[in-house]
Order: sequence, then structure tokens, then C-alpha cells
Amino acid sequence: MTRTVVVSGGGTGIGRAVAETFAADGDKVVITGRRADVLERAVAEIKGDVSAVPADLTVPDDVRRVAESVDAVDVIVNNAGAGSSFGPRETLEEHAAAWRRELDLNVLTAVLLTEALLPKLTRPGGRIIGMSSIAALRGGGGAYSAAKAALHGWCLALAGDLGPEGITVNVVAPGFIAETEFFGGRMSPEGYASRVRSTVVGRAGAPEDVAAMVRYLASPEAGFVTGQVLQINGGALFGRG
Ligand SMILES: NC(=O)c1ccc[n+]([C@@H]2O[C@H](COP(=O)([O-])OP(=O)(O)OC[C@H]3O[C@@H](n4cnc5c(N)ncnc54)[C@H](OP(=O)(O)O)[C@@H]3O)[C@@H](O)[C@H]2O)c1
Repeated sequence: MTRTVVVSGGGTGIGRAVAETFAADGDKVVITGRRADVLERAVAEIKGDVSAVPADLTVPDDVRRVAESVDAVDVIVNNAGAGSSFGPRETLEEHAAAWRRELDLNVLTAVLLTEALLPKLTRPGGRIIGMSSIAALRGGGGAYSAAKAALHGWCLALAGDLGPEGITVNVVAPGFIAETEFFGGRMSPEGYASRVRSTVVGRAGAPEDVAAMVRYLASPEAGFVTGQVLQINGGALFGRG
């Protein structure tokens, strides 16, 4: 059965790999992000039924346009996010702006897209997947860590609310994933090497590693998995038994 899958941040990195995975399965995929040119390139390069709706998901009118582009949706992948507020801050105004930005990019994007699409989400069988980070579980990213941890609280509450309607809600928390725009120019060779050393498998993660987990969570076979935070980090942080 062909499903409709909406992937935020689907033009680059992890989101693009997620879009490619669903498109290869024959699903109809809608990708969204702020940069139209990046999205158009992804649409041209990915094989399958992929379309793009440029949108800043912190802006309600943009989010409405994304929701209006689909009649129904089976899977929402809330992947858009960023660690955008590193570097020194001196004034309270700078702290406030940095925290608001981080919460906007990592929490509000997911909340608004989900709220807009919820009326159209398949019941039973709908799937919502949030993209968190190892930083939410072990710290190390200041406002970014806190914003991703906030995403957990919201997703787990949503899992409770929507479970009776046959909708699952889960969170994926990746460790270091290379080949994305996430680190921009901030990643030094030493930083890369130390992140690889922190894993027990001795390599960086790839966007496809995360996409495979998202694919499973979205599958009919995963209907008994909900309200979970699933780590994918090469063993850089072990789960609790
Ligand atoms: N790479 C890692 O090591 C890593 C580790 C843990 C978690 N993560 C998480 O994984 C997710 C994907 O990141 P990535 O590594 O693939 O980096 P990325 O290539 O920078 O992807 C982030 C995507 O989010 C989109 N986006 C950001 N703000 C947006 C907004 N306001 N509205 C709509 N789209 C927005 C970006 O597109 P536009 O700029 O065009 O809007 C971009 O496509 C993020 O949530 C990130 O926090 C990444």
C-alpha cells in the first residue's frame, strides 16, 4: 500500500536519507525546509514520488501550506532541527534570543507541523517520529540539549494521547552522524576523530543508519512500539537495562 510521508528538513542530511528510503519503498514523499533550491535539487535527484513544499516550520502560515499540500498523511517525520546557538553570550538578551531560537527550531517546528497534519493522519496506523539527539540524554549542547529533551516530553505525552487512536509516537536520538549540514564549518578533524573514538564500533554514523530506524518505526510491524526514545549512536552512549 502506498503511504504518504511528510519529512521535515528532507532536503539535506538525515531527512534526505529518510526521504530516499521511503521513496525507494514506493511511498509518496513530501519534503519541506526553508530553502527552495535545496528542496528542488533533492526532488530532482531522488528517484520516486517526491514533491517539495518550501516552508519555515516556525511560521504558522508556512506550516498551513504544507498541510494543505496533502489530502491525507500516514507518517510524519519531524526531522528538521539545528544546533544554532553556540559561541559566547554575554547579555541576558543574548541568552534569551539563543534559547528561544533553539526551542523554535527543535521543538516548535515539530509541534506546529504535527498539529497541522493531525486531522489528516491515518487512524489507526498513523506514525509520528521525532528527531532528537544524544545531547538530550547526556548534555553537552546547552540550549540545544534542553530543546531536544523538551521534544521527548512532548512526544511521550502525544504517544499517550494518540495511542488509543492507533497512532504511535516515537523519538530517535542519533549520536554523531557525518555527511550532513548539521555541523556546518564547526567540525575540526580532531572533533571528528574524537567523536568516532567515542563510539564502540569505531565509525561515524551515516544518514542511512538513522533512516533505517525511522523506516522500521514507520512500518506496520512497529505497531507495538510507542512512547520510546530509541538511541542510534554506535555505542557512544549505552542504553539502560
Ligand atoms: N548530524 C548529527 O550528528 C545529528 C546528531 C543528532 C541529532 N541530529 C538531528 O538530526 C536532524 C537532522 O539534522 P542533520 O544532521 O541532517 O543536519 P542538516 O543537514 O542541517 O538538516 C537539518 C534540516 O532541517 C531543516 N530546517 C532547519 N530549520 C528549519 C525550519 N525552521 N523550517 C523548516 N526546516 C528547517 C534544514 O533545511 P533549511 O535550512 O533549508 O530550512 C535542513 O534540511 C536535526 O533535528 C538534528 O538536530 C543530527
